[in-house]
Amino acid sequence: MKVFILTGAGISAESGAGTFRDPKGFWATFDPMKLATPEGFAADPDQVHAFYNARRRDLLTAEANDAHRALTRLEQALIRAGGGFWLCTQNIDDLHERAGTRRVHHMHGELLQSLCAHCGGLAPCRSDLSTADICRACGRAGGLRPDVVWFGETPYGMEQIEEALVSADVFAAIGTSGTVYPAAGFAGLARAAGIETWLVNLEIYGASWEFDHHLAGRATQVVPEFVTRLLGRI
Ligand code: APR
Repeated sequence: MKVFILTGAGISAESGAGTFRDPKGFWATFDPMKLATPEGFAADPDQVHAFYNARRRDLLTAEANDAHRALTRLEQALIRAGGGFWLCTQNIDDLHERAGTRRVHHMHGELLQSLCAHCGGLAPCRSDLSTADICRACGRAGGLRPDVVWFGETPYGMEQIEEALVSADVFAAIGTSGTVYPAAGFAGLARAAGIETWLVNLEIYGASWEFDHHLAGRATQVVPEFVTRLLGRI
């Protein structure tokens, strides 16, 4: 069995990481156009750095939760059984990795990595970033930004994502509102390819044709349930 999992902010919510579109989510408090676009960064880099520096500091004290750990169990069982496991996350945290999942694709980048706007250089980043920081690759200052894919930019690895998605037997969207493309289109792509689709989320949404199965609840409750059901079929 090959399983493709898409995760969003909801899977990390119980680890204390914020979500975006819940009533108290980031975008209810901050303007995404000012904090999550290249234009916003160009207009006020200090404000953007302050937003991501605060989230990076919070992430360093956060812990993976039972939902992350359940997906690690699923990955291990599928690999042992000669199946396939592909985890594509929209999240920029490293909680899947800290739970032990080995193959994680960050389509929206990683908060614990910096990107140089001048040379494209990537480097690990576990402390605050500022416009004064100098890129180790090109030696220039002022270009370092969080390695985060902003609105209007192209997510990482779209070709590999689509290849893995259409060759899966099961697709699950976990902890995501399904509102931001291209990730929001993955369920429809899977459905069109005849793949079994699951929505595992606090809120159930979307046309009933999009998902064959729904598990509604907090991720730490329903993701282990989802994994138990799949483990019974491996
Ligand atoms: N357990 C399960 N689901 C939860 C929980 C929880 N404890 N808490 C919230 N959720 C659900 C919400 O009901 C919502 O459907 O998680 C979803 C979170 O949706 P968003 O806040 O929109 O986050 P996400 O879908 O990951 O956003 C996608 O938008 O701003 C961009 O780049 C950002 O990657 C992000 C993308």
